[in-house]
Amino acid sequence: MFPETRLRRLRESRPLRDMLQETRLMVQNLIYPLFVQEGAAGRVAVDSMPGVHRLSTDLLLEEVEAACRQGIKAVLLFGVPETKDEAASSAYDDQGIVQQAVRLLKACFPDLLVITDVCLCEYTSHGHCGMVKDGRIDNDATLPLLAQTALSHARAGADIVAPSDMMDGRVRAIRDKLDYNGFSGTVILSYAAKFASAFYGPFRDAAGSVPAFGDRRTHQMNPANRREALQEVLSDLEEGADMVMVKPALAYLDLVREVRDTVLCPVVAYNVSGEYSMVKAAAARGWVDERQIVLEILTGIKRAGADLIITYHAKDVASWLNSQQCGE
Ligand code: PBG
Repeated sequence: MFPETRLRRLRESRPLRDMLQETRLMVQNLIYPLFVQEGAAGRVAVDSMPGVHRLSTDLLLEEVEAACRQGIKAVLLFGVPETKDEAASSAYDDQGIVQQAVRLLKACFPDLLVITDVCLCEYTSHGHCGMVKDGRIDNDATLPLLAQTALSHARAGADIVAPSDMMDGRVRAIRDKLDYNGFSGTVILSYAAKFASAFYGPFRDAAGSVPAFGDRRTHQMNPANRREALQEVLSDLEEGADMVMVKPALAYLDLVREVRDTVLCPVVAYNVSGEYSMVKAAAARGWVDERQIVLEILTGIKRAGADLIITYHAKDVASWLNSQQCGE
């Protein structure tokens, strides 16, 4: 009780504050998402995500090299294919853009962890995450295609496949397919609690995956549901997921904490495109301090219980953390 107890005592000096810091962001815990584009050479800026580009494979290598120099250990790849069709055939083509990019990355950076997003929405002509029959997404018809996509990523050398489609049963379908084909060592990071969120808006610009009709509410979750999110997490783990994700992060930090307290496996949070773009827009106007606010946001996500954070800020954060260590 005051005056004996004075909590400010332990905040008085910088060394004391540093020593007593409970949560620490580490470069090793960051995953850097990247968009790789087929065909056209060069980079295409994503207007709604300042600082993010769709990259041709040669520029992808440059960007990854720069990220590795800052200590980034893992990237998450999204493909922007040249051709799309109703069967999403470029998603599971061994010569597809993601497959090519994975082979290149693994050849150039053997120690880099390559994670691939497994979904059909970037590859279907209608922009939906699954096969469409009579205007509805056919869950079970989608599963073999997702499994085939995951297998072709694994064959190309992906270390971790990350299904983001939210079809029921996809984790089991992918695990079975991988195991049957000799890829029992490929890790599955499941987008387990993925909500139907307006925070994905800028991403859909970047990936060119805006649905041509309807929305994703029949497979992605209702943002209002907490218990259902835990059901999703538990069922993905039963199906064989090695790690589970909560996505988006900021409006769902309660679930990051709840999932962390419920399961024993690693928990990943996705600091999604809309969260990134809001910070960038405000920072560009001088309304917030970008570096401070990003570090605060990511520390908050980690404090909520995330072991790993997927963030478009990863490379910047890595360089800030590195310069902090040098005493800047
Ligand atoms: C689906 C996918 C999406 C994101 C990651 N994987 C978009 C969606 O579900 O519509 C969103 C990522 C972000 O907003 O940063 N392939």
